[in-house]
Amino acid sequence: MIGQEHEGTEVLCLDVDEDTDADTLCAELLGPWSPTMIALRRGGRHVTELAPLHLRDRSHQEGERPDGVHLITGGLGGLGLAVARHLSRTVPGIRLALVSRGAPDPRDERDETAAEDPRRHRQVTALRELEDLGARVRCYRADVADEAAMADVVRAVRADLGRIACVIHAAGVAGDGFLFRKDAGTFRATLAPKVLGATVLDLVTADDPPQLMVCFGSTTSVFGVAGQGDYTAANTYLDHFADHRTALGRRTVTVDWTDWLDTGMAFDHGVRRDQGFFRSISVEDGLGSLDEILAAPRSPVVVGEINYGMLGSVDPDLLAAQLRRAPLVLEESVRQRVAGAGGEPRRAPAEDAPAGPAPDEGVTLLGREDGGYSETEHQVARIWARELGLDRLNVHESAFSLGGDSLVALRMAQSIQKTMAVRVSMVDLFRYVTIADLAAHLDSKKSHG
Ligand SMILES: NC(=O)c1ccc[n+]([C@@H]2O[C@H](COP(=O)([O-])OP(=O)(O)OC[C@H]3O[C@@H](n4cnc5c(N)ncnc54)[C@H](OP(=O)(O)O)[C@@H]3O)[C@@H](O)[C@H]2O)c1
Repeated sequence: MIGQEHEGTEVLCLDVDEDTDADTLCAELLGPWSPTMIALRRGGRHVTELAPLHLRDRSHQEGERPDGVHLITGGLGGLGLAVARHLSRTVPGIRLALVSRGAPDPRDERDETAAEDPRRHRQVTALRELEDLGARVRCYRADVADEAAMADVVRAVRADLGRIACVIHAAGVAGDGFLFRKDAGTFRATLAPKVLGATVLDLVTADDPPQLMVCFGSTTSVFGVAGQGDYTAANTYLDHFADHRTALGRRTVTVDWTDWLDTGMAFDHGVRRDQGFFRSISVEDGLGSLDEILAAPRSPVVVGEINYGMLGSVDPDLLAAQLRRAPLVLEESVRQRVAGAGGEPRRAPAEDAPAGPAPDEGVTLLGREDGGYSETEHQVARIWARELGLDRLNVHESAFSLGGDSLVALRMAQSIQKTMAVRVSMVDLFRYVTIADLAAHLDSKKSHG
């Protein structure tokens, strides 16, 4: 992420062992640095490849689907409840243990805050629905990163519901902010539920390991997302945690989800659909894929479809440069399609996606009481409006809190260059994240020639 957030800084992650000799190391350091994560082990060179996998093609080994109590961390969150509902529908009489740091059980009528809090109200409604579907559901309050608290939870679950057959680790918090201004507390808070949480879950169930542990990771670990260094690190850890734990004989899968539509943290943060390298996924498709993964675990697996429509709108040279800096390589057939996407027309927005204003349509600017905005602010706003699909913009709001990511930033940089004839780097876009700041920066660049 340092390389993505600081243009001009190249970062290579070389994982070496004691067999790596100086010549091999020098060859890597002097080489093209593509991909940017390489492992050199026992004379071999290992890189990660993104390759198509059809889950319905059952040529790989199938496992036995876990049968018994399902413990879901983050169980009262968007995806946690969607999974709980799906399991309740498909596995009659399933026993579910839902863990989160919130109230012990949002159904507890003694807790008077529940009635006033819409999130808690939604949780209560969902829990009642699970019971109506015939599930036995218990809620437990704990921080998944707290080993002592989680040991207590596991003891309580076994006493209340029985043996734990499957752990679905869906606890997580979204990261926020570029590394150069992120404080340690924010970084730790984002890493804790995933990094410590996965490790704690393994430790506290070690005396009777579940048949399967499924960790909810994210496609951020595939290419990273600028401004999400902590979240990217946390999810990358989960990818490798699954490999490591499986190698120790305890079956573990990490699913790298793309943005879910209609529920969960991407939905709550207003992330616009189909904005990244992978297209967004419907709840129904997400749950269907989870079923396939539970039946025939593969890890790490990305669930999603490559967003060729969006890639087609990015300058092919810039896209190729981005991909060269990626931590992985694309399998040949994927690489060819991505390279060919440059010539494809951009996919029309789906019916329910907010339609962006046409390039020269007016955009309402907000944020100043006197209503005075400079011409540069209007120009920048038109570009943002088109890329973010909005027609009202506050000049003091960050593009990234409105759903922008590195691909959106890349296209913004191109548009600014094309329409305003000023050269801006990705670093500029990540440093000047509001319309007001970016416009001031562009004006000062123009005045300095
Ligand atoms: N939604 C998406 O589009 C998407 C895409 C990619 C990956 N994912 C991953 O899928 C998982 C579920 O996400 P979501 O969308 O359902 O998010 P969500 O609605 O925000 O739910 C996450 C849940 O995790 C719980 N949690 C956070 N930290 C915890 C901790 N230390 N201990 C115990 N519980 C904790 C939160 O509850 P409390 O705050 O009450 O503890 C919350 O209920 C996450 O790991 C996320 O990274 C989601």
